[in-house]
Amino acid sequence: MNQQENVTVRFGAPEDAETLARIGRASFYDAFADHPANHPDDMKLYMDEAFAPETIANDLREKDTIYLIAEIGNEAVGYAKLKLDSSEESVPRGEKPIELCRLYSLNEYVGKGIGKALMAKCFEYAKENGNDVFWLGVWEYNYRAQKFYAKYGFEKCGEHVFQLGTDPQTDWVLQRKV
Ligand SMILES: CC(C)(COP(=O)(O)OP(=O)(O)OC[C@H]1O[C@@H](n2cnc3c(N)ncnc32)[C@H](O)[C@@H]1OP(=O)(O)O)[C@@H](O)C(=O)NCCC(=O)NCCS
Repeated sequence: MNQQENVTVRFGAPEDAETLARIGRASFYDAFADHPANHPDDMKLYMDEAFAPETIANDLREKDTIYLIAEIGNEAVGYAKLKLDSSEESVPRGEKPIELCRLYSLNEYVGKGIGKALMAKCFEYAKENGNDVFWLGVWEYNYRAQKFYAKYGFEKCGEHVFQLGTDPQTDWVLQRKV
């Protein structure tokens, strides 16, 4: 069932730190804990730091970092994190690049239009903000997300290391014009 019509997307605010930490941790765990390449200790090391409420609260104070929260009713069911003026070597030169740092639905909502609603808001924001290049990193084994991004016109332009605890993993770097 596609629940997209019920999804609203709003900007994250400082008081959302606890919620974002909770859904960030849950969605990351559900997406990656079962994969044999991911050691539980590395998952824990990464999640304890990345999804600590203080980490998210600090992020929310950064003026270059934007959180978008997808809700059904009053329940947060997914989120995106954008970073302005962020780029790296393999990303085509643009005047105003924007990075999609995270895009997650809670597990029970995957495939139900949350990603689509968040992507629409990401692009709306990027257009209004005058960004020209959109880019992201996606794990080399995250085939579902790679297919999702391909549907949105993202193409591989390089690779970088994503540090999961003690494990240096390989992310594909994907980009497209805004
Ligand atoms: C990646 C993710 C955010 C996508 O969101 P989603 O809610 O599952 O996707 P949607 O249901 O909104 O799908 C949007 C469109 O993409 C298509 N799509 C979704 N997943 C797809 C896939 N694996 N292959 C092909 N098409 C796909 C849908 O069919 C839909 O197409 P439509 O607009 O023509 O109906 C979600 O799957 C997720 O949270 N996954 C786990 C975490 C993760 O991997 N995040 C990315 C880290 S880089």
